[in-house]
Amino acid sequence: MKKLGLTLIAVGALWATNSFAGDDEKLARMWKSKCGSCHGADGKGETKQGKKMGIADMTTAAWQKEFTDEKIKETIMKGISREKNGKQQDMDPLEKELDAAQIDQLVKFARSLAKK
Ligand code: HEC
Repeated sequence: MKKLGLTLIAVGALWATNSFAGDDEKLARMWKSKCGSCHGADGKGETKQGKKMGIADMTTAAWQKEFTDEKIKETIMKGISREKNGKQQDMDPLEKELDAAQIDQLVKFARSLAKK
């Protein structure tokens, strides 16, 4: 019985950490659901869509240097529809779906993907 009690406490603690997930975790989840299907949870673009559309690896220093915060923001808001190196590249505009604070958070997340 004592053991069961301890197990229940452990399960309860786990549940509590999950339901009061920190901002970082929420942000990672937003990234995964809005960006991850193409760019990958890790931003490397190693997804089916990423390969098909020739998506760049966001974690490289070159990428991080090329894309300013402003440019990332603009891309999230306006999306992409273009052809590059013979590949059609499409990314949906999200300015109607996300608010300014959410977009800022995603820019921050993109920065956090940089190789350390
Ligand atoms: C439907 C697939 C798809 C989704 C979802 C998606 N992107 Fe993209 N994204 C692309 C493609 C394709 C490109 C162009 C290839 C590249 O530059 O890597 C791109 C490029 C970018 C670029 C570089 C801009 C440029 O001109 O190349 C940024 C920044 C970016 N995406 C951010 C995001 C963020 C942040 C999200 C989530 C809010 C997101 N993307 C969601 C497909 C997607």
